[in-house]
Amino acid sequence: MTPKTLKSPYEVMQSMVEILDAQYSAHNQKGTGIIQLYFFHQHQEWICHVKADEHHLEFCTGVADNPTVTLRCSFFRWLDLSSGKLSPIWGALTRKLKFEGQVSFFKTLPKLDFSVNIRDKDDPRTAFEKNATKRWNPPQSVIIINASPRAGNGYTEQFAVRFAEGMRDAGATVEEVHLAALRIKSCTGCWHCWTKEKGCALDGKDDFYALFEKVNQADMVVYALPLYVDGMPAILKSYFDRSVRRVYPYICSDTSKMRHPRRIAKKNQAMVALAICGFGEKMQLAALKKHFGAIAHNFHIPLVATIFRSGAMLLFNNPFAYKQQTEVLENVRKAGAELTLTGKIKRKTKRKIEQKIASKKEFIKMTNYFWFDKIANQKNINDY
Ligand SMILES: Cc1cc2nc3c(=O)[nH]c(=O)nc-3n(C[C@H](O)[C@H](O)[C@H](O)COP(=O)(O)O)c2cc1C
Repeated sequence: MTPKTLKSPYEVMQSMVEILDAQYSAHNQKGTGIIQLYFFHQHQEWICHVKADEHHLEFCTGVADNPTVTLRCSFFRWLDLSSGKLSPIWGALTRKLKFEGQVSFFKTLPKLDFSVNIRDKDDPRTAFEKNATKRWNPPQSVIIINASPRAGNGYTEQFAVRFAEGMRDAGATVEEVHLAALRIKSCTGCWHCWTKEKGCALDGKDDFYALFEKVNQADMVVYALPLYVDGMPAILKSYFDRSVRRVYPYICSDTSKMRHPRRIAKKNQAMVALAICGFGEKMQLAALKKHFGAIAHNFHIPLVATIFRSGAMLLFNNPFAYKQQTEVLENVRKAGAELTLTGKIKRKTKRKIEQKIASKKEFIKMTNYFWFDKIANQKNINDY
């Protein structure tokens, strides 16, 4: 596919005049005449003019008869002039802008004003978003979205089921959904969900919408996932991409970082990330933590806990790590209960989940032994 060509100065001028024309009726310095423009851009001369009367502004290419005013300059200087960065007097004095005729006729062009009156544009952080733990009500309904492509066979599942057990012990109703069992198409970037009444163009063509509705009913959403190439598996990314309809297209600035105002979200919904990875160090999951933090901010849903377990493969495959495995999983269950009841996980519980399995040197040796054995003896990777 050939990429779209960038707009030419004519096309830029055409859109600029269209915007000005839309604001022209409210402008109090209308006039009848012609602004003739000669622009230089990328070794080419671009000749065009703007016709003005009492009702409209019209963009035309070419030379006009009897222009009211003429301007010759580079196209970038014109952009500076029209955006107010370059004063016409300074431009004329420094010969950056060459005017002929009745310069005051430029006042016929209205000053650009992009302000619009949009309902729901402002959306400050809610008290729950600011401090979810302080305003915690134990969630009644929880949905676990397991994003492991190995679904029930994965190690992620071992964590998800323990966490679910803990949450159930604390009184929550928990449902687990395996993304691998659903068909979720990738977002195509068509912006239907932001601009059309009917929502996403892919609705009804896959399983996304049914899941989206379910997620919107939950008090808490737990994302359980393995780390894939320092991020989330593609299937979960598709789910998040398709979820942009959670927010309006407008932008608000009530927080330190720009974001879109909330559009769809259950009141006081919280989210949790429960992630595992193959490498042994905790920091392998740092980029994912940041990513989840950004998603939580964008979707206005506080990320109340991250439970990250590195070295998961070894934890399940090394018979000498069986004690640690038992302790880790038991504490994942505890974490589920603690989080449900109080909105936070005790430090001790987290420490036990994140405990070291082996020294770096031992970890590398054991992992390499594991892979060597699987390859040399053609063992099934899913047996552990
Ligand atoms: C395609 C792929 C990419 C992975 N990328 C990483 C990675 O970047 N860092 C890491 O520590 N582990 C990585 N892993 C290892 C998985 O996170 C780890 O094996 C995890 O336990 C798999 O979870 P599962 O058993 O639920 O499938 C990757 C695994 C796969 C299959």
